[in-house]
Amino acid sequence: MGNRPHFEEQSQAPLLEALAQSIRRDHAPFYAPGHKRGQGTPAPLKALLGESVFRADLPELPELDNLFAPEGAIAQAQSLAAAAFGAEQTWFLANGSTCGIEAALLAVCRPGDKIIVPRNAHQSVVSALILTGAVPVWVQPWVDPDWDLVQGVEVDAIAQALAAHPDCCAVLLVSPTYQGICSDIAAIAGLCHERRIPLLVDEAHGPHFAFHPDLPTPALAAGADLVVQSTHKVLSALTQASMLHVRCDRIDRSRLQKALQLTQSTSPSYLLLASLDAARQQMALEGREQMAAVLSLAQTVRERLKALPGLRVFEQPVADRGCYQLDLTRLTVEVSGLGLSGFAADALLHEELGVTAELPTLRHLTFILSLGNSPADGERLVQALKELSQRYDGPPSADHTEVLAESRVAAAIQVPDLLPRDAFFAAAETVPAAEAIGRLSGETLCPYPPGIPLVLPGEAITAQALQSLQCIRQAGGYVTGCADSTLATLTVIRG
Ligand SMILES: Cc1ncc(COP(=O)(O)O)c(C=O)c1O
Repeated sequence: MGNRPHFEEQSQAPLLEALAQSIRRDHAPFYAPGHKRGQGTPAPLKALLGESVFRADLPELPELDNLFAPEGAIAQAQSLAAAAFGAEQTWFLANGSTCGIEAALLAVCRPGDKIIVPRNAHQSVVSALILTGAVPVWVQPWVDPDWDLVQGVEVDAIAQALAAHPDCCAVLLVSPTYQGICSDIAAIAGLCHERRIPLLVDEAHGPHFAFHPDLPTPALAAGADLVVQSTHKVLSALTQASMLHVRCDRIDRSRLQKALQLTQSTSPSYLLLASLDAARQQMALEGREQMAAVLSLAQTVRERLKALPGLRVFEQPVADRGCYQLDLTRLTVEVSGLGLSGFAADALLHEELGVTAELPTLRHLTFILSLGNSPADGERLVQALKELSQRYDGPPSADHTEVLAESRVAAAIQVPDLLPRDAFFAAAETVPAAEAIGRLSGETLCPYPPGIPLVLPGEAITAQALQSLQCIRQAGGYVTGCADSTLATLTVIRG
């Protein structure tokens, strides 16, 4: 932020300051929440969280503006965020990126409208398809067979989908993926704009991109029309605090505003909203230095992990298929060379070695490095993985290799036969898992994290997909979205 007036403007935090002032106002509170500025908070909770959290847990008092009709502190904070993140207009979200993605689809699709969606979309996209009744045109992201890792979507895949379905009303991309893999947004935005349709980007994992040139190009700068970011995942906002940015006139903003009211609580937390204002201020003022430090820490850790026997660190060359750019602050480490699943390695790290990863999968562990990490954290990560590498130095067992071969993601990803919305409302029945093979699923079967459904509502349940899910459970992972998370029974569509 070299430009002085801009710097001075961004050094303000209007919502944070309004909240700080409101806390100091002496008054008798006869409004919700019921704890009344902490006076009624149970002592154990106050002992854990401190007094000030409750003093700041306020409703829409006149001086605090209103998220759904912003004219004061929230309007100013959102406008500063738009300038900092490169948007024309920004909305603060108090229900995570999930509500932003749902609102984005509600703003651009009507029931029956077609939208291009990658098959590795987060479950919030499936929820949005159910809510809107839009018709997904699924495109397969490229799956790297060597890593068994879902990458980005190739530009050609979008071009072909648009040629086959010229009546699509929008394209949605997930970029970056959990592992930091970014698609070629600029090329895909070009394809969309030739057809005068908007490009929506789920950039939940990329709110930091705008603040350092060595990070991937932010989706907004690459030409995306609407971008949703989980400010809480990578920057310093509180959990659930996210932002939605719009950059052009291809999005009907008044419909978007109405949609956001549909998908959010009528009582948004001011703790969350103020944390967004503070996170924006922090990044606008110090983002470049902060991100330079994170990149440097990630680089040091990456080089040291690469030297450890039995481990592989993901480093896809730039512009390879479906991986246009890689966020180098994400570290994805393959542990199967140690004869361990990612889940087993995760449990050892968490329970014995004092390190906790973001995302275990059957083969890998993904670590998020962010501005909150210290060099000491990086050292603990290196030492813990060194310990694993020394403890498990034998070749992988035949059993382990077989489980991995049988559960490959690439083979398990299918495309549904029925619209997610029709499947959601269809009459369903519960059957033993073995009898569900070949039937259409009545529910989402979703390993969590990362929250990317392996089976969508309306998709035929294959033996392969069931086996992958069972492997994930046996290895210690969770499967969500289904009525019976043990997978002994599954919900299928009657018929
Ligand atoms: C790719 C992706 N999109 C969207 C979301 C939803 O974000 P939130 O947790 O902020 O609702 C997630 C959450 O993990 C995600 O990984």
